[in-house]
Amino acid sequence: MLAYLLIVCVSFYIVSATLIRLVGEYLFNQKANDELYAAISLAAQAEAPLAARDGEALYALADRNSDDYSRVLVLDLYGVAQADSQSEMNGVRMSRREVATALNQGKADYGYYFVGDQSPTLLTGALTGNMISLYAAPIGREELMGVLVYLTRSEEAYRSLMTIQTKMLAWLGLVTVAVTLMSLFVSRWFTRPISELNEGIVEMANGDFSNRVKVRGKNEFAQLATAFNTMCDRLESLDKARNQFVSNASHELKTPLSTMKILIETLMYQDPMDPDMTREFLTDINKEIDRLNSVIGDLLTLVSIDGGEKPLDARPISVAELLSENMRRLQPLARERGIEMTLSVREQAVVNGDANRLTQVFYNLMDNAIKYTGRGGSVRVELSKKDRRAIVKVIDTGIGIPKEDQLHVFDRFYRVDKARSRETGGTGLGLSIVKQIVLLHGGHVGVVSEENKGSTFTVDLPEA
Ligand SMILES: Nc1ncnc2c1ncn2[C@@H]1O[C@H](COP(=O)(O)OP(=O)(O)O)[C@@H](O)[C@H]1O
Ligand SMILES: [Mg+2]
Repeated sequence: MLAYLLIVCVSFYIVSATLIRLVGEYLFNQKANDELYAAISLAAQAEAPLAARDGEALYALADRNSDDYSRVLVLDLYGVAQADSQSEMNGVRMSRREVATALNQGKADYGYYFVGDQSPTLLTGALTGNMISLYAAPIGREELMGVLVYLTRSEEAYRSLMTIQTKMLAWLGLVTVAVTLMSLFVSRWFTRPISELNEGIVEMANGDFSNRVKVRGKNEFAQLATAFNTMCDRLESLDKARNQFVSNASHELKTPLSTMKILIETLMYQDPMDPDMTREFLTDINKEIDRLNSVIGDLLTLVSIDGGEKPLDARPISVAELLSENMRRLQPLARERGIEMTLSVREQAVVNGDANRLTQVFYNLMDNAIKYTGRGGSVRVELSKKDRRAIVKVIDTGIGIPKEDQLHVFDRFYRVDKARSRETGGTGLGLSIVKQIVLLHGGHVGVVSEENKGSTFTVDLPEA
């Protein structure tokens, strides 16, 4: 703002100073030319009386051509006044620069004087501070005989110049005020969104993500504000998700611990206990330890995928091989539960990926399919290709997932039926691990399901 103000004022000052000088020059040149011409013509008239040393004629000439605002003097070759319209300087030598120029060089000259307290009065009636013009014209066409001095008051021209100057100054002041106000306004206009944004950022840095910036208009600031607000939304939901995750994880870890504590306390304080009962209690404790183990294992897996701790060890992998290998591992479990499991490879597909991670994906999906399908049901795994993507479908005829839960099954710790899922040993982390790994491979995972009819989980991965 200051820079702006400075530029405007300096340029205004330059323009007005130039203007004043031009106007002044014009005013004074005009006047000087006219009056110098008058002085020269008077000098021509004074030639004859001066040659004749006719003092009376000279005085008459001087008197005739002067008034209250002007004075005429006739000086001889030595600069001594021979005639003076004010009759003051008769016989006195006048030593002004212009007189010397006329006497020494035979040239007409003029100059300006300000009437001061000390300097001798050039013109009676002139007041201190008044401006007086002095014209000196040589007398004698062939031979220099003297100098004619013509004095006039130049108040008019001087005053009008002063008026112009004061007016210009007033304008300068006005422009300064206007520019100051305008730039204040403009800078406010520009800086307010920035400072608002800044406040928002500071609050965000302090951990408060609830702050939103007002969006005004459609300019770049508005876009910036919108982007900032979107970022706040995402950070806020991330923050919430993180808190939720921590609280869920704590709960998942605390439940088996509490159960174990009760079991152990019963064992400790209830004596004598029958050995079968003791074994049963210990078996339960062992189960809880297994639970803890699997929750912690899953958490560690998630953390290592999230934190990018282990970079993807990508290699070309045959998807069909991966699927049949997982199938082999899960076949015994399926048989035990009376579920028929089949694999149908429609097309071979090779993807670039981390074999261990992808094994986790398919193992989890097949494991879920078996877990959430009742006796007599079936699980079918299909491999096909579409648009250079490998498509794996895990189709079961199980209990299905209600519509409202389908969106959330990939969330961490989300279980449709808490009690049943925990009973079956699930941690609620399996599908979120699946999703993370698939995303890491540039793929997608989705579910289509109908309650009591079955579910179909679909994974697609870009082909190598
Ligand atoms: N094939 C399926 N059929 C029905 N429900 C399923 C299936 N797969 C997952 N679910 C539901 O999604 C929830 C989340 O699955 P997952 O993340 O693997 O956790 P869990 O450890 O409980 O298996 C499960 O608790 C279950 O309610
Ligand atoms: Mg699972």
